[in-house]
Amino acid sequence: MGRTLTILGLESSCDDTAAAVVRQTDGKPAEILSSVVYGQTDLHRDFGGVVPEIAARAHAEKLDICVREALANSTLTLGDLDGVAVTAGPGLIGGVLSGVMCAKGICVATGLPLVGVNHLAGHALTPRLTDAMAYPYLMLLVSGGHCQFLVVRGPDDFTRLGGTIDDAPGEAFDKSARLLGLAQPGGPAIEAEARKGDATRFRFPRPLLDRPDCNLSFSGLKTALLRQRDQIISENGGLTQADRADICAGFQQAVVDVLAAKTRRALGIYLAENPPIAGFAVAGGVAANTAIRSVLETVCRELGADFTAPPMALCTDNGAMIAYAGLELFRAGKRNDMGMTARPRWPLDKVSAAMLGSGKKGAKA
Ligand code: KG4
Ligand code: ZN
Repeated sequence: MGRTLTILGLESSCDDTAAAVVRQTDGKPAEILSSVVYGQTDLHRDFGGVVPEIAARAHAEKLDICVREALANSTLTLGDLDGVAVTAGPGLIGGVLSGVMCAKGICVATGLPLVGVNHLAGHALTPRLTDAMAYPYLMLLVSGGHCQFLVVRGPDDFTRLGGTIDDAPGEAFDKSARLLGLAQPGGPAIEAEARKGDATRFRFPRPLLDRPDCNLSFSGLKTALLRQRDQIISENGGLTQADRADICAGFQQAVVDVLAAKTRRALGIYLAENPPIAGFAVAGGVAANTAIRSVLETVCRELGADFTAPPMALCTDNGAMIAYAGLELFRAGKRNDMGMTARPRWPLDKVSAAMLGSGKKGAKA
């Protein structure tokens, strides 16, 4: 029988304070014993983005409550744990620091080992937590703060094939929704409008499709939407419901087309390596979009890759993904000492040059 590890995971790198307990016996599927997430959306609503100082204070207030609840829900105590994993970056530094200090405090008090987890690794390893996906696989992280293609070979072995050079797609959805007077988060609001609209009435750009790489760009799309909006307003004195729906449909179609084309490219590069299993996974809030999800599924089917998308609650920020990534790192013998620092930037890929850009939710790599 394999060794069983039970790990507490903490997450506080952006606007969710989260703690979870995950257990796995070597060779068996992992089990989420508890997962607690306290969102901060209400605290930041009036500011049009996450305010780092407000976020950090809220994390510092909620972390111990989260840990207590996660332990209570798992019916375990600190003494039943084998280690503590914490997001040590990348992200908003005040929030990351809060989590790191909380985790260090627990480890000093209990003698439990500590491991620092890269937040992006947490997202990237989630298909292993939910679907026991075998290494290697190609991953598309697509959310309000992230957008990158990663070949995942191990808990600390990632190659980035490309990513956004400016905004993340969720950020483009959110900013565009604001320009159209729609509710936040903008993704679901735009998707609902797009369903009623005509995607062919307005033509939005498909940035970087002329380049033979896997990089993406979304900030120009939002500017194009602003221009389109202003042109209609100056010609007709305002936007009708049909105008708004048609703009949303055109905008969403542009995102769909860009993600499909770049996924086709990334998958082509990945499959050329002849991986033993041709697996592709998508995670992040934007993966909730039905049109995006379905086009990615189609691309996978056409190129002969298995498509996986973890359930939404585990695609968005949570503690279980950090606990699970920590569990894999502990199994691989990784430990951090009390000198571990919080890192605002921390590229997963240690070889490729860092990506430019830092959005409203903090550094992207
Ligand atoms: O992963 P997530 O919860 O948080 C981080 O960004 O880390 O992703 C949130 C993002 C928001 O920008 C939101 O507008 C977007 O995901 N989103 C969507 C949809 N649902 C959420 N974007 C497009 N279509 C959706 N249905
Ligand atoms: Zn995230």
